[in-house]
Amino acid sequence: MDAAESSKAKIASLIQDVKKSWDDELQQLVQTLPKEEGWISGSLYLYQGFWCPAIVLKPVVSFQKHFQAFDSDVMVATFPKCGTTWLKALTFSTLYRSQFSRGGIEHPSLTSTPHQLVRFMEYDVYANNPCPDPENICVYKPRLFATHVPHASLPTSIKDSKCKIVYICRNPMDMFVSLWLFSNKLRDENQESLSPNKVFDMFCRGICAFGPIFDHALEYWNASQENPDKVLFLKYEDLKEDISSQLKRLSMFLGVPFTEDEEKQGVVEEIAKVCSFDKLRELEVNKKGLHISGIPHKDFFRKGKVGDWSNYLTPSMVERLEKLIHEKLDGSGLTFNFSSKISLD
Ligand code: A3P
Repeated sequence: MDAAESSKAKIASLIQDVKKSWDDELQQLVQTLPKEEGWISGSLYLYQGFWCPAIVLKPVVSFQKHFQAFDSDVMVATFPKCGTTWLKALTFSTLYRSQFSRGGIEHPSLTSTPHQLVRFMEYDVYANNPCPDPENICVYKPRLFATHVPHASLPTSIKDSKCKIVYICRNPMDMFVSLWLFSNKLRDENQESLSPNKVFDMFCRGICAFGPIFDHALEYWNASQENPDKVLFLKYEDLKEDISSQLKRLSMFLGVPFTEDEEKQGVVEEIAKVCSFDKLRELEVNKKGLHISGIPHKDFFRKGKVGDWSNYLTPSMVERLEKLIHEKLDGSGLTFNFSSKISLD
């Protein structure tokens, strides 16, 4: 063995040692955490106050330990089923629009899904590698990523740097229905369908991936109130109501405001259309294949409507959730639009 080979072998063995001690550390951690049954498969662990799916616990800890944010980074942060796919597409198309202007290279969103373009830290970047090469984790500049990790549990470098965070939330009733139906689709054929009463009760007790939703939303809401240049808080319902003005907010926040010329040329409307539910769902790339997490790409698109909860929730479920929303959010300034069908006032 020559010197170069021997040095490589030493590094490989060192990496193995680090991985082994890291796995031991994680095993010890897992034993100390409260555990509940997950909605799809595997367990949920109560880690740092949120219910972390077992499958991403290790990547979440790696992300927290090793991720070094750049000042120019942008993080799309969301609670599951609140419009992550949509926000990824909108942020990607807005942030990089000058790199894929008309007539040039084919727009990447025609050949890659929003989840491939804007990779999840916990389900993708850190899924199989505790220490990925920072240069290779995003092919675009500035770097753009996504996460479901709550604000309090983000790596400190995200909070300490000038990295920007774009957050989207959605009214908890539609979010619950979306997650319940999504989880049912992903359960194995030999598993029973989720009982709506059982998962609704779990949801109200905060037991769902990255839950409770109220703590998640409030942490990002408070951060956006304290530092509006750092955290932009968006709502799914506002995007549905007036996508153009929300896109303008997004572009201003990202530091790439639409120019007068762009507005005249209809660039804002073009981005809104390219990222719309109907357009994205009909793209071949979003109809076939699996995301790296194993989820079929097509399952990220269902109805894309506000107020669908009224087709699923019973009056007693609505009453319980309304009460919870009041309890958790009153006085915070954070409110939700549930469509015109109910008013919480
Ligand atoms: P529904 O199940 O209510 O239809 P996430 O992307 O966070 O997983 O959220 C999924 C929800 O967003 C699903 O809601 C899905 O249909 C909806 N969605 C996906 N793409 C969308 C788009 N481009 N515009 C609006 N809603 C979208």
